[in-house]
Amino acid sequence: MASNGRLIVFNWKENPRTLTGAFRLFSAIMRIVKNKKRGNTKVVICPPSVYLAELSRLLVRLPVRFSLGAQDIFWKDSGAYTGEIGPAMLRSFGKKVQYVIIGHSERRRYFHETDSMVNKKVRAALAAGLRVILCVGEPLAVRKRGIVAARRYVKNQLKKDLQGIINAKLKIKSLIIAYEPIWAIGTGRNCPPEDARDMAIFIKEARSRQVLYGGSVDGANVVDYLCYHEVSGVLVGGASLRVGEVGKMIKNS
Ligand code: PGA
Repeated sequence: MASNGRLIVFNWKENPRTLTGAFRLFSAIMRIVKNKKRGNTKVVICPPSVYLAELSRLLVRLPVRFSLGAQDIFWKDSGAYTGEIGPAMLRSFGKKVQYVIIGHSERRRYFHETDSMVNKKVRAALAAGLRVILCVGEPLAVRKRGIVAARRYVKNQLKKDLQGIINAKLKIKSLIIAYEPIWAIGTGRNCPPEDARDMAIFIKEARSRQVLYGGSVDGANVVDYLCYHEVSGVLVGGASLRVGEVGKMIKNS
């Protein structure tokens, strides 16, 4: 990604229900991506991994500012780990699959992922040459104690999730951090843009050149975040399944 280019990451989560639905949504988004002639926004779609092979096959020629990504990864390349998908498997798609989301709050909450597991995943993915989108963010109880408490929570998460990864590595473009306050995810209650900006500055100082905001982003509010140059882009869940919203987000980026 060019240094001033924005990154829009669409996290489809466990959607759509069928491969046919995935084809339909993917084709509609690709039409929007290809029609956007101006700007240097990069779009990344992270579908369920089971769809990656089929969707990547549709990319006969990879559009310049587009890539696919996975929503999670395991830290071993192969072995007796039922159900897991390793870095080497993703790498085998070449440039078509360059990104991976790691440590999403839903994985931490529903699948009991700990910071130590997240740390192993981040290390393995970076070592394999994938671009990591590491998700961090505070729960509502912490946020209610104020922005200072939220910052402390995020700092602590980053310290654990990035333990042992040397500082020089953190500044490389392969590590992207997504600030996703948990209380803003899927709730329609988005974080005040100036708070997202402050958190982006805070994270950038120590940890990463690129910080995304995620949490109830849609076609109408995307500009409120992207108007700050400190916010490198957005990570979008629910609205990434609605073609109209996707169109507005790409147009407004
Ligand atoms: P949301 O999800 O846009 O539906 O709030 C964001 C995310 O979970 O990445």
